[in-house]
Amino acid sequence: MIVLGLETSCDETAVALMQGSKILCNKIYSQEIHSKFGGVVPEIASREHTEKLLGMTREALEEGNIRVEDIEGIAVTYGPGLLCSLLIGLNFAKGLSYSLGVPFVGVNHLEAHIYSSFITAEEYRSPFLSLLVSGGHTSIAKVNDFRDYEVLGSTLDDACGESFDKVSKLIGLGYPGGPAIERFAKKGNKNAFGFPVPDPENLNFSYSGLKTSVLYTYRDMSQEERIHRIADIAASFQKSAIESLIIKLKRAIKMTEIRRVAVSGGVSANKLLRKSLQELDVEWVAPEAEFTVDNGAMVGFLGYKLLKEGIRSGYDLKANPRLFL
Ligand code: KG4
Ligand code: ZN
Repeated sequence: MIVLGLETSCDETAVALMQGSKILCNKIYSQEIHSKFGGVVPEIASREHTEKLLGMTREALEEGNIRVEDIEGIAVTYGPGLLCSLLIGLNFAKGLSYSLGVPFVGVNHLEAHIYSSFITAEEYRSPFLSLLVSGGHTSIAKVNDFRDYEVLGSTLDDACGESFDKVSKLIGLGYPGGPAIERFAKKGNKNAFGFPVPDPENLNFSYSGLKTSVLYTYRDMSQEERIHRIADIAASFQKSAIESLIIKLKRAIKMTEIRRVAVSGGVSANKLLRKSLQELDVEWVAPEAEFTVDNGAMVGFLGYKLLKEGIRSGYDLKANPRLFL
């Protein structure tokens, strides 16, 4: 089955063509225009999606050597995300589905991230623990079976990726913050500053306290000190942020006695996180780098599984900015 996967929930315009679970083409356009504003500007994001989506779909068809009439199903993110951005992808999918006479299915972006770990994995087995760490979400869930989730904890305030973005903006490293902080952290001393390791109750996460602690430290520095210690701040912040994820993960493993973990979302690209997972005595899987950020393949991958089971959406499907698991 040839499935077109579309993702426009935030600032990545992404289109993929799948043949079953196999990727024929995965195109991602990261809207760099937002970097000069230090964060995503919703109005600009939706304009960019409008401008790019049709052309990228044409290119994907060309690269995948597929005719538009060969598309047998369409999968599209319908939430959570920015409303106007979601609407661009969803309405495009509806129009194409109607004109081609093929089914479409709305995909939950969070679920698409969760299963992205298995796009290129050798095998898929449940139950497993899902640690989803992105710019908009941070959660731990127990996945009992395909699409059967028990959310064990989520963030009480900022998401983990969001804290990377905010700290990066504060210390002048720009947006998106995760890759920039990681790059600078390599040159810094992770023990230079004793930033707190957030550990709110149970399996919930919190990143606003850590962010504020960096803010106060930075505020009290002289201009010269700031310049010299950027790498130390990045390394110390990254250490605390990642350690917090690992504390929660260890707790969840102990509670559930499940020792299989799938880590996903933009932050799962982080090398310190991957190294820390390596040091845990668990079986873990994370997506390859191109599937950690928002992408169309993860939407097409899950969408194909849904369509194959006969799951379809109606043309009355609404975008849901607050969709959860
Ligand atoms: O999954 P994603 O593309 O979008 C959302 O669904 O939110 O995640 C984007 C987030 C951003 O906050 C970005 O700073 C973070 O993932 N990120 C990273 C790294 N690469 C991306 N955070 C830490 N380390 C990285 N290497
Ligand atoms: Zn995402």
